[in-house]
Amino acid sequence: MRAAVLGGGPGGLNFAISLKLRDASHDVVVIERNKPDDTFGWGVVLSDETLGNLHSNDPISSKAIRDSFVYWDDITVHYRGTTMRSGGHGFSGIGRKRLLNILQERARSLGVKIKFETEAAPADDYQDYDIVVGADGVNSRVRAAYADAFKPNIDVRACKYIWLGTHQKFDDAFTFIFEETQHGWIWVHAYQFDSETATFIVECSEETWRRAGFDRMNIDETIAVCEKIFARNLDGHKLMSNARHLRGSAWLNFNRVLCERWSHKNIVLLGDAAATAHFSVGSGSKLAMESAIALANYLDSEPNMESAFRCYEDERRLEVLRLQNAARNSTEWFEDVERYFDLDPVQFNYSLLTRSQRISHENLRQRDPQWLSEAEKWFEQKATGRVPNAARPPMFVPFRVRGLELVNRVCVSPMDQYRAKDGTPNEWHFVHYAERAKGGAALVFTEMTCVSPEGRISPGCTGLYMPEHEAAWKGIVDFVHAETEAKIAIQLGHSGAKGSTQLGWEKADAPLKTGNWPLVAPSAVAWSTENQIPREMSRADMDRIRDEFVRSTEMATRSGFDWLELHYAHGYLMSSFITPLTNRRTDEYGGSLANRMRFPLEVFVAVRKAWPDGKPISVRISAHDWVGPDGVRPQDAVEIAHILAEAGVDLIDVSAGQTSTRARPIYGRMFQTPFSDRIRNEAGVATLAVGNIYEPDHVNSILMAGRADLVCLARPHLSDPYWTLHAAAELRYNGVNWPKPYWPGRDQLYRLRSRSEAPTGKV
Ligand SMILES: Cc1cc2nc3c(=O)[nH]c(=O)nc-3n(C[C@H](O)[C@H](O)[C@H](O)COP(=O)(O)OP(=O)(O)OC[C@H]3O[C@@H](n4cnc5c(N)ncnc54)[C@H](O)[C@@H]3O)c2cc1C
Ligand SMILES: Cc1cc2nc3c(=O)[nH]c(=O)nc-3n(C[C@H](O)[C@H](O)[C@H](O)COP(=O)(O)O)c2cc1C
Repeated sequence: MRAAVLGGGPGGLNFAISLKLRDASHDVVVIERNKPDDTFGWGVVLSDETLGNLHSNDPISSKAIRDSFVYWDDITVHYRGTTMRSGGHGFSGIGRKRLLNILQERARSLGVKIKFETEAAPADDYQDYDIVVGADGVNSRVRAAYADAFKPNIDVRACKYIWLGTHQKFDDAFTFIFEETQHGWIWVHAYQFDSETATFIVECSEETWRRAGFDRMNIDETIAVCEKIFARNLDGHKLMSNARHLRGSAWLNFNRVLCERWSHKNIVLLGDAAATAHFSVGSGSKLAMESAIALANYLDSEPNMESAFRCYEDERRLEVLRLQNAARNSTEWFEDVERYFDLDPVQFNYSLLTRSQRISHENLRQRDPQWLSEAEKWFEQKATGRVPNAARPPMFVPFRVRGLELVNRVCVSPMDQYRAKDGTPNEWHFVHYAERAKGGAALVFTEMTCVSPEGRISPGCTGLYMPEHEAAWKGIVDFVHAETEAKIAIQLGHSGAKGSTQLGWEKADAPLKTGNWPLVAPSAVAWSTENQIPREMSRADMDRIRDEFVRSTEMATRSGFDWLELHYAHGYLMSSFITPLTNRRTDEYGGSLANRMRFPLEVFVAVRKAWPDGKPISVRISAHDWVGPDGVRPQDAVEIAHILAEAGVDLIDVSAGQTSTRARPIYGRMFQTPFSDRIRNEAGVATLAVGNIYEPDHVNSILMAGRADLVCLARPHLSDPYWTLHAAAELRYNGVNWPKPYWPGRDQLYRLRSRSEAPTGKV
């Protein structure tokens, strides 16, 4: 086979080596525009796993790489005058130039021809080769020439960065330095890659970059300013650039590259040309080199090139997506980092370490138990004001709001049971809620309980508008208080345009087959073409519904509920006022966000007056309509939360979606938690996170990183009412109280658990 490899970076060179290793008769040429020693950038980081993969492919080059490695174990964070260090992270670094020289030498020894200082011609000019490999990096010309076939998607990320080097030693830890300047925050990712030199990547927001005047500076001026900003950490050492060949200042924006296809005819993309991963997860070279091995493997094992390309893409695309996901989280963390500058150093450090969501709480415990234990103690001390003797997982730290204390941070999320008749809770509800309260969660939310018969979602929904409703709820509340440590919250709501629909397990959101009741909403906008068109609410309707909320609040007070939540999410009445998708009013209740919030606020103010002062009120919102700029987006949710908090709402329960049939949500593990994080840290209000949170590890990570104050689990509590007690056993934490009659079961469970292995961070 004759192969032309366009680009002699880690990807191209490792492909050339791998192909020759599989069949020495292949004729392989690498075209590289630079000289052998000419390279932009400094060091790269590779993990033990990648080294293992390189070793199985080629023990000779991998040994040379390993021999040139600098190893370090710790991550150090310099932030607000503090230095925090955690261990067990295990990295190794090598100079990019050294890495390329090793690969060049190995390629040559295998008979690969490398043409340096040669600009690659258009890929079409290599038609006398069997295969043309586009390994020409992030700005790939090969990809651009066949953009119609590869369909690239390039996302230019927000921050500015410059890749510098220094002889200052960072040989004991991967180091992050955050400095506040008069122009804004600027930070550094620094790591040693040989005995003399460290990579020193400086990054900041575009606004800070402009304010600092970096856009008008040449590279020497940039370096002089950076040396001044980071003087404390550079200790008199200089910063150096090896990107003087670049025009302008050498500051860049990271380009996230995705391609719909990686091959076209006999041309195939490799490494950064096909897909990039942000440098903050340090995996670009790994992806390029491992993809090179996979491509060579399939070219060797598959009967033809077409199927080799297909297998290569199938295998590598998955790995690339996985890393790009983690890299996106990490990129966004740095882009939004200003949001976290109010966090205490311990929490800031934790948030930084877990930013990609690949490292969880239990992973950190495995890496550095001492550090995590101190962090857990800090969390508890902050919550309780007392210095604990021993650390406990954050999910078991009490939470105080107004006059109420929750014994831990786990909540049973509201879940409609569709089991009531005429709004009255019955034995089903008694058993259901009693079981969840016995299961260890600190707070049990009721399902959306409706303020009027017309305000019900379905005929099976519970209500709180008749004396018999109040009496039945009181029975449940009394049991919870008498027999458990749990508190119980009533969720009050009105269905609006999503009312008069079938039970959850029938056709959800579809109108009843018979017996529909008339609906009201802010505007005459039906939920779907199948649903009835609601009547636009008059001011008199608003007065009536506000008073119904107050009546239910008074009943909830008499029933003894500890907490009240207003359901302003999921497209029901209040939510349909907030989102512009369903609020088309032209009066003072429609239009601007302030107008759309007017009626929901009016209801909150009236409810707050009727609800005991010592008891909290949370409001559940949909933080994302998932329809793009026409609907509510997370940045609007910050404003919504801010307005509610100003009015006196204690916590925002951050859900999302279900506000439009046009919504295209992006699901995933903890998928709504970023909205909670944003609201909590930008609007400065306490939050509850919810949505696909199912492991104790998820809960602890969310709380410890300050992404929420409480965590709600819905479906996990349907499959396991004792989720919290079981989580405690899994974490070997014995500070939870089980109901006395169940103690023998508890003892057996802990005994069994103590015989099995300690929990691991499953992410
Ligand atoms: C600031 C920063 C820090 C990084 N840190 C790390 C890290 O710690 N760990 C890690 O794994 N990765 C890191 N990376 C990413 C890593 O550098 C790339 O992902 C990796 O180099 C990709 O390898 P590649 O072979 O696909 O492309 P490249 O390394 O970009 O190689 C492409 C080659 O093609 C040549 N070329 C381009 N066009 C032509 C042409 N027309 N004619 C001839 N030659 C051409 C270029 O000169 C270059 O040598 C970092 C990236 C940046 C920007
Ligand atoms: C059967 C069921 C009923 C639900 N009913 C309500 C409800 O009455 N009020 C509400 O705010 N959310 C309701 N939800 C949404 C949940 O509270 C929660 O936000 C959602 O299920 C995501 O959490 P999870 O991934 O832990 O299940 C319901 C969810 C389920 C599964």
